Parts: sequence; structure tokens; C-alpha cells
Amino acid sequence: MILIDGKKIAADLREDLKKEVSELKSKHNKVPGLTVILIGEDAPSQIYVRNKERSAKEVGLKSEVIKYPDTVEEKTVLKKIEELNNDESVSGILVQLPLPKHINKQKVIEAILPSKDVDGFHPMNVGNLSSGYESSIPCTPLGCYLLIKKIEPNLSGKKAVVVGRSNLNGKPMTQLLLKENCTVTITHSKTKDLKGECLKGDIIVAAVGMPELVKGDWVKKDAIVIDVGINKTEKGIVGDVAFDEVSKVAKAITPVPGGVGPMTIACLLKNTIECFKRSN
Ligand code: GUN
Repeated sequence: MILIDGKKIAADLREDLKKEVSELKSKHNKVPGLTVILIGEDAPSQIYVRNKERSAKEVGLKSEVIKYPDTVEEKTVLKKIEELNNDESVSGILVQLPLPKHINKQKVIEAILPSKDVDGFHPMNVGNLSSGYESSIPCTPLGCYLLIKKIEPNLSGKKAVVVGRSNLNGKPMTQLLLKENCTVTITHSKTKDLKGECLKGDIIVAAVGMPELVKGDWVKKDAIVIDVGINKTEKGIVGDVAFDEVSKVAKAITPVPGGVGPMTIACLLKNTIECFKRSN
């Protein structure tokens, strides 16, 4: 069994990105810039944003975090986004989710210039990805994709089962696997016989946010299992996959933590650099 070391693979990716930033700096006399907007006091968001800022600086990006209290008016945020859209030193803009209820998420996402949308959430990028055109790709599914490709470079004809249909993970993950010529099944909370569907997968990506949902007897022998879940439980943080059981049958599996998580941030940096390159 291969334990997919996301921490190490992400560190290697950051090392490559650091070199690339240094080359871009020599060539253009400027570096890519990432601006993150953080609204409110959501505890996990504070941690994610701190990690994003630290990693961005580590690879040599210009990094800025703009913080607002959760009482901020929507129009203030929209005005700031417009300012950042017009700021040449900003290559990528990310508005950390979730947002307070009085702020319209869709409006905020659509205010970001698609060419600076490092999350790949803008409908223009979503559409481009599903049409197979160049686009920003959401960071978590991109990270999962890179991990899968490390284990199995040729995915053509493989059966992939995606558990979860969110815009952040399940749907873009499906598009990436389709592009690699996988036969993809998207499953979700209303799927009948979820176990039976999972058992067909050469690849399983679990992204539903249900602690240890995917059991050992749900997984085909020698499947590749990618666990996107981060669930707080009495026994600590666990994924969407029952790791102890599944690791006995899988060919390769990501741990939680230390699997997909570090890749998400590294891919955000990668996306920021891609945005910079496309605009220069
Ligand atoms: N909150 C949790 N994950 C994400 C993400 O990938 N992007 C943004 N913007 N917010 C998030």
C-alpha cells in the first residue's frame, strides 16, 4: 500500500514554484501577487488564510490579506474587488468562503475578473473547464488530480467514483477526470447503493464532509483513494474515508491530515502564477 504523502508532494511543488517565481522576477522585474479577502471570524477560515499567506510569501509571491468584520456591507467588498481587478500588481484574488449570510456569494464571485479568479469559481472559469478550454481550476480538485497522476499517470478508461457534487470539489473533480478519459460516476446523498457504486471505482475521490463514510468493504482491491474530508470528531480530525480499514484494501490512499490539504494551498500558489503568466 502506498501512503500518498501530500505534505512532501506539496513541498516539492512549492520548491518548483519558488524557482519559477524567481525566473519570472528576472524576466518581468515583478512577481505575481495574491490578495485574499477574509470576512468575519470563522475559525477554520482564519487558519486557512494564515497558511495561504505564509506559503505565498515562502515561494516569493507578493501576498496581501484584507480583513473585514462580519458586519461589512456587501458594496464595500464589491468596491474593493473592483479596485483589485484594476490593480496591475494583483495577479490573483481570493475571497475566503464561507461568507456572512447578508453577503451574496454569487455576486462576490462574479465580481472577480475571471483572469484573476485563482479559485476557479467564476462561471466563466467553470464553463471553460467543462468545455475543456483553458481556465483556472479550483485548488482542491487540482491538488487531488496531481496526487492521482503521481500514482497513475495514465487514467484513460479507468472507472472513477466521485462522492460529493459540490461546486468546490465534486463537480470540478469530475471535469478533470473526464478530461483524462476516465468513466466518471458522481454520487451524492441521494445516491442509492452508494457502497455498490464505490465498489466499481478504480479511483475514489471522497468529498462529502461525512466522517469515515467510505468503509473498507466499499473499496475495490487496489483502488486509489483520495480523501478530501476534514471532519472534527471526538477522536480528532478524520476524513471521509475510514482510513484504517480502507488502507488494507487500497493500492494508494491519502491520509488526513497530510494528504489533500497541503496540495490545496500549493495549487493556489500555482494558480496565482498561472494568472500572472497569462496576463504578462
Ligand atoms: N473555503 C474553504 N475552501 C475554500 C477554497 O478553496 N476557496 C475559498 N475561497 N474559500 C474556501
